Amino acid sequence: MPDFRIAPSILSANFARLGEEVSAVIEAGADIIHFDVMDNHYVPNLTIGPLVCEAIRPCTQAPIDVHLMVKPVDALAAAFAKAGADIITFHPEGSEHIDRTLGLIKEAGCKAGLVFNPATPLHYMDYVMDKLDIVLLMSVNPGFGGQQFIASTLAKLAAARARIDAYERSSGRRIRLEVDGGVKIDNIAEIARAGADAFVAGSAVFGAGRDSDANRYDTVIAALRAQLGEI
Ligand code: DX5
Ligand code: ZN
Repeated sequence: MPDFRIAPSILSANFARLGEEVSAVIEAGADIIHFDVMDNHYVPNLTIGPLVCEAIRPCTQAPIDVHLMVKPVDALAAAFAKAGADIITFHPEGSEHIDRTLGLIKEAGCKAGLVFNPATPLHYMDYVMDKLDIVLLMSVNPGFGGQQFIASTLAKLAAARARIDAYERSSGRRIRLEVDGGVKIDNIAEIARAGADAFVAGSAVFGAGRDSDANRYDTVIAALRAQLGEI
């Protein structure tokens, strides 16, 4: 069984209690904090910047996975590396020089990844595989939480998995295949079978908190993991 990673998106967390939400969701068994950055330019919404990353950094040891939905990318990527990000991903449409941006992220000591919108072709990864730690497929159009999973992502995941497996066989280097948007308890198993090994879930996690759970999200994280356990 692959070592699956669950990455709750704090976009759907309670921002008035963000530090507690971050600690709780990791204590509840999640692996990674997914941090959605929107600039009201590349996507029609505005969220959080490096100051917030710096503020939550002491709340957990878990990796912070910064998903940049911004244009341009480079200056913000550097600022997030300084603010404590572990992983930084961006959309190829946001950068004029994709190879350079990946290099800047790696030089700043972070893992780097490319994010593919539903209609963005996979060939953007072809000549930069050596610099990629993560490939993130969007299963919704970026900009908002709570949207419905786009079914054609399953075939695209299988195609991305084939490319990554071929690369891993020839290079010995691991690249994670992450999916973002509309991931829920009732579809995570199917998404894993299509080839994903890391799963961003916002509304499905933060919308399912229980006061009766020790860490508010234990039940929902366990339910997501139970689905993955059957792969
Ligand atoms: C969308 C963001 C996602 C979003 C996922 O642009 O990149 O990370 O928060 O939210 P859900 O899981 O609610 O679709
Ligand atoms: Zn995201």
